[in-house]
Amino acid sequence: MARVLVTRPMPDGGLGPLAAHEIVQRDGDWHEALGDADALMCHLVDRVDVDVLAAAPALRVVATVSVGHDNVDVAAAHARGIPVVHTPGVLDDATADIAFALILAARRRLSDSERALRNGKWRSWSMDGFLGHDVAGARLGLVGYGRIARAVARRAAGFDMPVRHHTRRDTGVDGWVGDLDELIEWCDVLSLHVPLTDATRHLIGARELALLRPGAVLVNTARGPVVDEPALAEALHSGRLFGAGLDVYEDEPAVHPRLLNAPGVVLLPHVGSATFATRRRMAVLAAEGVATVLAGATPPNLVPHPHS
Ligand code: GLV
Repeated sequence: MARVLVTRPMPDGGLGPLAAHEIVQRDGDWHEALGDADALMCHLVDRVDVDVLAAAPALRVVATVSVGHDNVDVAAAHARGIPVVHTPGVLDDATADIAFALILAARRRLSDSERALRNGKWRSWSMDGFLGHDVAGARLGLVGYGRIARAVARRAAGFDMPVRHHTRRDTGVDGWVGDLDELIEWCDVLSLHVPLTDATRHLIGARELALLRPGAVLVNTARGPVVDEPALAEALHSGRLFGAGLDVYEDEPAVHPRLLNAPGVVLLPHVGSATFATRRRMAVLAAEGVATVLAGATPPNLVPHPHS
């Protein structure tokens, strides 16, 4: 029986695969319990860095209940021989739904128009009130082409949207664009689906935003630091960018003050995977990964080595 430190509450049944082990369940105050933990199960808001790893000499596995794993120093864990598991494949539809909701909301100005109604500023139907841009037929540019991006592409097919995608390596799939600038210049909706790495930090800044076509919108359901937030806020305030739909931020839960009052922006509190069923699947998958490593086997949901 191993000791599994769980940093925060998990969905009901989420820890079922760990029934044979001792669970040390915490509610955010987990650091002082690291000393005798054999396994650590954390959330994306928990930073697992070299100091955390050093405080856990018995650690045999780290699980983050998220698909993104930028919260874990994977290279440092691997250097100690500690595998890291995450939750790919179980949140694609939930996250793609939120990306698509943001595409619709940003193109059709749903936040601005709802706010106007709530603030008593809607006087009457009018021919030119709250005009947005069509979603049907709009060109969708996907940055990254993993499972979530492909789930967004499937939804876009129902809206007759031409879809192209950019990745550094040729996917061999129709619509691949090797040059990011070319994709940005082409699309009406730019949707981000890359993990946060040194290569993707501030991938979209003032220069890239300036390449977007008039009426284009930016959607980010990936990680906040992929976008330069002050540059995005400036593009929205200046009217250069028609709109943006954001689920993630550079410094969560803080949101850049100039984004909070920018026109055309739709802001969600990092809810991409927030459905009852999805969150439960994520916890179960992470717990299964922990149980598998503790049993001496290799789980399917290992995070690959950062430089592989
Ligand atoms: C959510 O952001 C996740 O990485 O699972």
